[in-house]
Amino acid sequence: MSKNPFYITTPIYYPSGNPHIGHCYTTVACDSIARFKRMQGYDVMFLTGTDEHGLKIEQKAAEKGVTPKEFVDEIVEKFKNLWKYMNIDYDRYIRTTDDYHIETVQKIFKALYDKGYIYKGEYSGKYCTPCESFWTDSQLDENGCCPECHRPVAFAREEAYFFKMSPFAERIEKLLTETDYLRPKTRATELVNNFIKPGLEDLCVSRTTFKWGVPVTFDEGHVVYVWIDALSNYISALGYMNDKYNDFEKYWAADVHMVAKDIMRFHAIIWPAILMALDLPLPKHLAVHGWITFNGEKMSKSLGNVVDPFVLGERYGCDAIRYHILREMALGADSSFSNEIMINRINSDLANGFGNLVSRTVAMADKYFGGTLPTERESDSLDDDFKSVVLNTFAEVEKYMDETKIKQALEEIFKAVDRANKYIDETEPWKLGKDESKKGRLASVLYNLLDAIRILSALLSPFMPATMPKVWEQIGASKSDTEYSKLSVFGVLPENVTVHKGEILFPRIDVDKEIEELNAIIQKNMDEAQSKLSAEEKGETVEKIELAPEITIDDFAKVEIRVAKVISAEKVKKSDKLLCLQLDDGMGGRQVVSGIAQYYAPEDLVGKKIQLIANLKPVKLRGVDSFGMICAADTPDGIKVVFVDDSIPVGSKIR
Ligand code: MSP
Repeated sequence: MSKNPFYITTPIYYPSGNPHIGHCYTTVACDSIARFKRMQGYDVMFLTGTDEHGLKIEQKAAEKGVTPKEFVDEIVEKFKNLWKYMNIDYDRYIRTTDDYHIETVQKIFKALYDKGYIYKGEYSGKYCTPCESFWTDSQLDENGCCPECHRPVAFAREEAYFFKMSPFAERIEKLLTETDYLRPKTRATELVNNFIKPGLEDLCVSRTTFKWGVPVTFDEGHVVYVWIDALSNYISALGYMNDKYNDFEKYWAADVHMVAKDIMRFHAIIWPAILMALDLPLPKHLAVHGWITFNGEKMSKSLGNVVDPFVLGERYGCDAIRYHILREMALGADSSFSNEIMINRINSDLANGFGNLVSRTVAMADKYFGGTLPTERESDSLDDDFKSVVLNTFAEVEKYMDETKIKQALEEIFKAVDRANKYIDETEPWKLGKDESKKGRLASVLYNLLDAIRILSALLSPFMPATMPKVWEQIGASKSDTEYSKLSVFGVLPENVTVHKGEILFPRIDVDKEIEELNAIIQKNMDEAQSKLSAEEKGETVEKIELAPEITIDDFAKVEIRVAKVISAEKVKKSDKLLCLQLDDGMGGRQVVSGIAQYYAPEDLVGKKIQLIANLKPVKLRGVDSFGMICAADTPDGIKVVFVDDSIPVGSKIR
């Protein structure tokens, strides 16, 4: 009988810096769901990968003096190593720089263009270079800066292709409000009110100001901009419009896309619109989680508050880290990361709770029966409640996993772990062990415990895949004893099961010592990030600046810099970059052409005073005469005109 397909995806990550624990959450969550589904007998396709194009990558590569591909290759390796370390068992890894993906993106772009959903226009607005985002005035923060990174934005404009969103607005609103697509559904109202009700804006889908992207096949100079490239990964990875793979029919539509809240809008509105435009079925569920925060802020490299999963894994084991992040994060809400919470959680749930249950049970079977249980039995009414709690746990976990509620599933399992530890207290096996006539009762108690551990450890295995096989070894369970179909019944272990004492599964952590050491590591990261940030904030440049050869004061005196006022400005025809300015220079006026059109609209300049190099030899730019040049600064956010205080009269000489 062929298995039912199940397709689950993480977002594809930007390989712009080293991966951190924030990136781990979605990947570990999807891995756990994928493993759970495989255990249930589904034919699972679990996809993850990297989103490798864009200006940020191009810039970072240039800073390092390597090509963008060389730059991403190195970081992609780090992501893959982390996934290996975290035991992520993905079925496919997509890189947006892979040829087959590029082919699909180009074909999708062309198909949408041919259908009339993509058209050519012009983009203008306030642009944040580090975030590669245009913002409207109302979206800027209280200082008029980028609402995401809070750095200055600059006016920019460029020719661009746009994707029409309005034809899909009604269907998308229904998708969000009338179906179970978005999880948790509470987020749908926010999306509908903020984006759909005010009228969906068309989406900019191509750029001309950078090269590191998928070229638009029918218009040289344009590269596909972010979302059509990134989102298409979910179908190119199955072979949609390419020959690399051939399982689109089998796996599409996706059962679960899991993402964090910052990219929810793209997956809840734009992705469905693209699929609608392509006449493709829509994904079944979009599961949205919050961020792992540190002191209330999203974990990020630039804040220095990143927690290195390798450091944590080395200290506590990768399963403890997986468990901790999964157990803390509820769908929809943020989860605050703290060393204290993590260590206490590991100690209470894993060391004292589950680990202790396993080691106590195995140790007693070893002590009282030499490791192999006798077959004589004596049951008690105490057993019934315990067994029913464990069996009920199976049903609850199954239900929660169907709803991608991992935290709740884990809570159920650990309630049953607590119940099992309580069962030991109730039945007092150490007393039974002293009384020869109670051997049958003791064997029953230990058997019930071992069989409960079989069920609970199998349910835990998708979340902690490295540890559970060690548990099975200790409790004498065979592989087939832990099959999914056997988790809803008691009495699967052989009656005369043999246990094997083994290593401690989760050693208890010395809380104070560990917290001190971890806090010191994080503080060091934050200090480093802080010192770097303040240097940038002060306008200091971290790297050494190469100055032009020295000149004398006489050399400088040859340059005539005068204050002038912009009377009018207009774009130079057939040029994206040039503005033609009419200036009052205190000498009868003059015309200057300046390459700032991508950063300033004409109205941003009119009435402002600037510095004019007044004795520069005239030139023609795009056929327009330019008599001099205005001073401007190169900044990380683009070109900025050096304006002059209004109190300085036009014509004043600057020296
Ligand atoms: N490349 C885009 C996604 C394209 S999907 C078609 C992107 N990449 S990202 O690397 O910046 O982020 C990927 C995911 O990691 C996002 O869902 C993001 O929110 C998540 N996280 C990054 N830091 C995080 C935390 N601190 N906590 C939880 N998730 C976090 O966006």
